[in-house]
Amino acid sequence: MSKPSRIAIDGPAASGKSTIGQRLADRLGYLYFDTGVMYRAVTWACLERAVPIDDEEAVTRLANEVHIDVVRPTVDDGRQYTVLLDGRDVTWDLRRPEVDANVSPVSAYAGVRAALTEQQRRIGAGGRVVMVGRDIGTVVMPDADLKIYLDAVVDERARRRYCEMMARGEQPSYETVLQMMRRRDMIDSMRAAAPLRPAPDAIILDTTCMSISQVLRAIENLMCPVEEK
Ligand code: DC
Repeated sequence: MSKPSRIAIDGPAASGKSTIGQRLADRLGYLYFDTGVMYRAVTWACLERAVPIDDEEAVTRLANEVHIDVVRPTVDDGRQYTVLLDGRDVTWDLRRPEVDANVSPVSAYAGVRAALTEQQRRIGAGGRVVMVGRDIGTVVMPDADLKIYLDAVVDERARRRYCEMMARGEQPSYETVLQMMRRRDMIDSMRAAAPLRPAPDAIILDTTCMSISQVLRAIENLMCPVEEK
């Protein structure tokens, strides 16, 4: 069995996609591409320019105008990559609470999705890629060689996000993080355009009680079943 070249990892917020995706890509020597940062970059561009998030036309126009680059880390501060918005480093701005609060409505706009999906497909076409998001297995790379859908119960995902925020020196309340997570889950899975859901041929892994290394081992076993090792 040859190694899958195009790997799609989807799932809700804080299900482990980015940690697992990055480590898997490192082990395979593949490109790691987190598509969520593109939706976050458009959201941050709207907030910076005071474009109202509920103005679909203006948000879509901006999504088509801005130039988003995702490159290797340019600063050694724990980042997985550097995100440039029209050439400016906005990597940490994309993790601000106001981006968290507004990114789901922005990513529900069909015109925004069309603009970003096209760029993501171009990146995926090169192969040797682990692409992470919500609609990679269903829309962006429906012909991916391996599709994984990571899930975990919402309380555990909120706990993970809360710990990440505390580690960055923020002081969120767990209740607020949990509420925000529920709201994002609802918008991401109820939207008309490319809603969050597993592709019919995706392998679903519930990571609620799994460590990172257990999840990685499970995925590696899928790529190379134990008896073939
Ligand atoms: O993975 P994340 O939390 O950085 O994603 C931010 C938002 O972007 C999330 O609310 C849903 C959206 N998103 C999407 O709709 N499609 C993707 N492929 C990736 C992210």
